[in-house]
Order: sequence, then C-alpha cells, then structure tokens
Amino acid sequence: MSALVVSDVSRNFGGVQALSNVSMTAEPGERHLIIGPNGAGKTTLFNVLTGTFAASGGSVLLFGRDITQLPPYERARLGLARTFQITNLFPRLTVLENVLLALQAADTSAFSLYRRLRANVPVFRRAKALLDDWDLAAIAEKTAKEISYGEKRQVDLILAIAARPKVLLLDEPIAGLSAAEVVRVVGMIRRLPREITILMIEHDMDVAFELADRITVLHQGRLIADGDVAAIRNDPQVAEIYLGAD
Ligand SMILES: Nc1ncnc2c1ncn2[C@@H]1O[C@H](COP(=O)(O)OP(=O)(O)OP(=O)(O)O)[C@@H](O)[C@H]1O
Ligand SMILES: [Mg+2]
Repeated sequence: MSALVVSDVSRNFGGVQALSNVSMTAEPGERHLIIGPNGAGKTTLFNVLTGTFAASGGSVLLFGRDITQLPPYERARLGLARTFQITNLFPRLTVLENVLLALQAADTSAFSLYRRLRANVPVFRRAKALLDDWDLAAIAEKTAKEISYGEKRQVDLILAIAARPKVLLLDEPIAGLSAAEVVRVVGMIRRLPREITILMIEHDMDVAFELADRITVLHQGRLIADGDVAAIRNDPQVAEIYLGAD
C-alpha cells in the first residue's frame, strides 16, 4: 500500500490557482523530492496534505485512509508530520524544553498534560536521548533564540521526528544554511530511518538529485514531470523551466 496517494488535488486563493489537479504517489520509505520555481505551489501542496488549507478539489490517502476532510491534528495523530519553511521554535524556551514540548504533545496519555515538563521522567529521558543521538546535547540548555540558524534547523528536524511520524514533510530544510551546515543537515536527513517516508521541497538541484528516489516537478500549480532522478535530469520541459527561470 502506498504511503500517500494524492489524486487530482486543486487549491485556489481567490483568483490564483495555486494547485491544479495535481496527482502523485509516495511509496513507503521513499525519499520523494518536490521541486519547482518560486510560486509553483510546493508549500501549498504541503499545506493541503497537512490540512492547514482545505483542498478545493481532489483527495489525499494516507496509507489507504482518506484524510481529505480531517483536521490537521487528526492527520498528525495518524502519523503525518512536517517542518516549516520558516523555523518554528519557542524562542525563550531551551532546546531541551522545545523537544520536551514536542514529545509531550505527541504523548497520548491524558495525565501527561497536567505534569510539569521536566517532571515527566520517561519523556525527559527520551528528549535527552534524542538530543544525544543527534549530537545536539551541547546546546540542550541554550534558549532557541541563542543558537545559530543552522542549529535551529537541526532542532526543527528533531521536533518533527519526535512523534515518530510515518510520513514527514520537509519544506526547504537547508535553505539559508552555510555549506558546512548543509552537509550536517543533509547528513541528518540521510540518517532518518526508512520507516519514515519523506517528502521534501528543495531548491538546490544537486541536493535534490542526491537525496531523491523520486522527484515531482511543479510549475504554476501544475505537475509537469514525475519520475526518478535520471528521468527528471533528462526531461526537456524541466530544463526549460529552470533555464527560463534565471
Ligand atoms: N495563504 C495564501 N493566500 C493567498 N495566496 C497564496 C497563499 N499561499 C500561497 N498563495 C499563492 O499560491 C501560489 C503558490 O504559492 P506557494 O507558497 O505554494 O509556492 P512555492 O512553490 O512554495 O514557492 P516558494 O519556492 O517561493 O516557497 C503563489 O502564487 C502564492 O502567492
Ligand atoms: Mg514554498
């Protein structure tokens, strides 16, 4: 069964057709890259998948279940997680506290809501372990506003995987990073377990080609190409859009 089946999804904003009849499929474990010029509809596709915006038409199946009408928190509960194009941390909380909050939000036991953040021992241990595993223990007690932008993007990724999602949507996770930070964050993405299906929006073609099992190309709200790296590299329409865009 496919992880995600998007059928004929459309979304307009007033007169702007941000997505027009887009259909695509992501298989379990796939690294599926979404590329396309600015304004192509990439983030809108993510917003429709997560339920942030309702689709104007079409349907979305998550592991065979129709989630098109579900609110965002229900979709999250079914295993859909995302990171945003802009970092989303609580600036005055420490990195550890940000991770604790994400874990707490994913914790289904009702009592956890009433406990103080650091008093929930299993959650506290898991937060520490996550930061250790991903080599971020050194910044655990710094506030989110004190850490570098590259570190913020790494913590964003930790928050998104904290709930052990089945499908993870990454919206330009390396945009604005230095070369060294790109290496680090791409390394983290490569290390994510294959139990997680990943859809990732990326502008850098080299990074997209490096990570992708499959690539979907959007342009002006329409899907113009979909295939493996070789197919997309050799697609004349894709080349034309990228040459035309500069
Ligand atoms: N909330 C909104 N209200 C109105 N128009 C929107 C909204 N979100 C997106 N749009 C419009 O929909 C189109 C697609 O935008 P979207 O953000 O999905 O593009 P994108 O491919 O993610 O671009 P970028 O590479 O710049 O992030 C654009 O014309 C944009 O202005
Ligand atoms: Mg975008």
